[in-house]
Amino acid sequence: MQPAAVESYRVLPATTLSLGDTIVLNTAQAELVRGVKGLLGKTLRVVAGTPTESAIIIGTVEQLRNIAPALHMIEGLHGDAFWLTTGEVHGFQCIIITAATDRGVLYGVFAFLSKIARQENVFHLNELQQPSAPVRWANQWDNLDGTIERGYAGRSIFFENGRVHPDLTRVSEYARLLASVGINGCNVNNVNADLHILDPDFIPQLARIADAFRPWGVQLGIAVDMSLPKTAGRMDTFDPLEARVADWWQKKFDEVYRAIPDFGGVVIKADSEGRAGPSVYGRTQADAANVIARALKPHGGIVFYRSFVYNHHLDWTNLKNDRAKAAYDIFHPLDGKFDDNVIVQIKYGPIDFQVREPVSPLFGGLPHTNTGIELQVTQEYTGQQRHTCFLVPMWKEILDFDLRGDGRSTPVKQIVAGDSFHRPTGGYIGVVNVGLDQNWLGNHLAMANLYGFGRLAWNPNLTANAIVEEWTRLTFGNDPAVVQIISHIQLASWKAYESYTGVLGLQTLTNILGSHYGPGPESQERNGWGQWIRADHAGVGMDRSVATGTGFAGQYSPEVRKIYETLRNTPDNLVLFFHHVPYTYKLHSEKTVIQTIYDLHYAGAEEAKQFVSQWKSLDHLVDDDRFHDVLSQLTYQSGHAIVWRDAINDWFYKISAIPDANGRVGNHPHRIEADSMELQGYIPFYVIPWEGASSGRAVRCVEVSQPCSAKYRFTGAEGRYNLDVEYFDQNNGVSKYQVFVGNQLVDEWLADSLLPATAPNGDSSTRRHITGVALRPGDELLIKGFPDAAEAAPLDYVEIHPE
Ligand code: GCU
Repeated sequence: MQPAAVESYRVLPATTLSLGDTIVLNTAQAELVRGVKGLLGKTLRVVAGTPTESAIIIGTVEQLRNIAPALHMIEGLHGDAFWLTTGEVHGFQCIIITAATDRGVLYGVFAFLSKIARQENVFHLNELQQPSAPVRWANQWDNLDGTIERGYAGRSIFFENGRVHPDLTRVSEYARLLASVGINGCNVNNVNADLHILDPDFIPQLARIADAFRPWGVQLGIAVDMSLPKTAGRMDTFDPLEARVADWWQKKFDEVYRAIPDFGGVVIKADSEGRAGPSVYGRTQADAANVIARALKPHGGIVFYRSFVYNHHLDWTNLKNDRAKAAYDIFHPLDGKFDDNVIVQIKYGPIDFQVREPVSPLFGGLPHTNTGIELQVTQEYTGQQRHTCFLVPMWKEILDFDLRGDGRSTPVKQIVAGDSFHRPTGGYIGVVNVGLDQNWLGNHLAMANLYGFGRLAWNPNLTANAIVEEWTRLTFGNDPAVVQIISHIQLASWKAYESYTGVLGLQTLTNILGSHYGPGPESQERNGWGQWIRADHAGVGMDRSVATGTGFAGQYSPEVRKIYETLRNTPDNLVLFFHHVPYTYKLHSEKTVIQTIYDLHYAGAEEAKQFVSQWKSLDHLVDDDRFHDVLSQLTYQSGHAIVWRDAINDWFYKISAIPDANGRVGNHPHRIEADSMELQGYIPFYVIPWEGASSGRAVRCVEVSQPCSAKYRFTGAEGRYNLDVEYFDQNNGVSKYQVFVGNQLVDEWLADSLLPATAPNGDSSTRRHITGVALRPGDELLIKGFPDAAEAAPLDYVEIHPE
């Protein structure tokens, strides 16, 4: 912090007094001391008993009443809420951080420190903060072998080799991180749950994780598989309505609670993507949820029962089939049948964490059931942390969406808080998937998503601007230029990502059968997964209307149905989610569908390019390490955005045969295809799928042990040029590339990123940007590739742009 800012806190009390001696209050006090020291360089003196000078007092309301009976108490402090205030205690003016519970006090301390870090005044506080919903949980999809499903930041902080890590330092730090944004529970293992998670020798290991969480007020939860009574319990059934099965669960959780008295609960994925479920016995999802809920009930635990239940062998030839309908079709008839300690955990959209989906209609279809919204912090379909994509603006749109249940205002945020339908509980679940990487998510800017998830779960009325500004100040400091640029990049990033990946409600047009990362539009179709876009030569989009389509629109309340049922009312950004139209159909914007696809993909890639120059303006305003980390991430992103742009546009051009009115698609005047260059040791090949490479072809070295080269004689005017070399960076080798002009080496690099690809395609396609190369007509440009292991130094094209 700048000295002037530090100076403004000169009159901060020099002592702190904690009114209790519990594990969480002790954490709160230690955090306060540590925070003030870190921010202001002052060590608060820790005192006991009653204040003998001005102090920062922390404690519960009850404890406060004992030492300051005259203090006027605020109404409405319950659960995790806290109150920051000032007042006289024993004749001394004090800062008071209080709450109904120890955990509330801890949250109050974090909020207080956040204010100092953002240079707010803390001397006249009177602020009550109440979380919107009681349940604010993280989910981790960690496997016991140490891998993480859809994790992009290293291996598990919890598990390795089938056991809990011996050293849980990172787990404690994670709990601290979660607590700092108000998250109060965490399910630690993959929803595709390991069958050993409740083995007798594993429960004590889980207890160690709970021990690491406890000081931070984070409750432990786990994912369990419905078949456990049979697989782990060696019974001949897991029928949830069998008394023996209920008994098995009861005994199992009694055992768990003996080891972990404050165990939070379990998350269940059943009858989904190959997981066992109650359908085996003709039972309902409610039967399954309740048998476990009843075992947890005596101990105060909850069941998060996921509504992500669907058939992934749907017949694509049947135009009435629709995966989007599954959750509502299955769960709505069960409304009111779930026990009161069950929360139905609903993904925000009816498909699967896509870059844009309508709100899941199920939120409006369970008025007699507790619900929670499942959001994804880990960017499975939104760039896997290699792309910056700040999701808070999307989450805001979802949470603010008014489902008009019973013809009145029922926005999603009020439904999951339990307010709309007067439910006792509900809330927020974020799939986070941090890993052992130093910065948790593998990308500094991606941490804003975790921060934003916590903040929205606490207060969904915060604006995306407010959240990103808070986060930027806390993460990179208060310099106005830094705050402005980083906020801008973050706030623009989701729309940019949407524009170059999946527009008009097409969802992320990624390879849904594999990595979920790079472009793969063809993979949406002709399979049982139901992420269909139904694109053919004449038109595109899924007709989900009641009148002529799958009927999905009919799962919404009448008022919302009206929006989506007709083309006229459907907003452009969801039009192809709800309707099948010709490419020449004119949107509300007056532009045709096909031209909009082309234009948005160009605009999105251009925006991503701007992020790089915007970030560069922060040189020396943020520390060097993070400056360079983010710069290289954004540079990579801007290159991959072009891969996306071209793949999707080329694909739609091929299928529609309608040219781009602006002449860009399929026409790259600065581009020299590698297979048109003079090759030595390189041979051309077809890339699969074809849209992953320019013109569908690329070149690769024939011999794994020999370097190979591609040569091009420059014919343009003398001048300075930027070169863009498009190559493929697989994860099964580290090729080297060198670029020469004549005999002069102008750049060299290693293809050593860990992209999710073992072959040249849209996942591995990567751009090297070389600036300011002097070229004269007749110069020979030579790209030399040095293959390594299974990676044959593949090369797609070079672009030569005037500087
Ligand atoms: C997605 C994801 C899977 C995950 C599933 C789920 O389909 O790709 O890895 O298991 O969601 O949420 O259960």
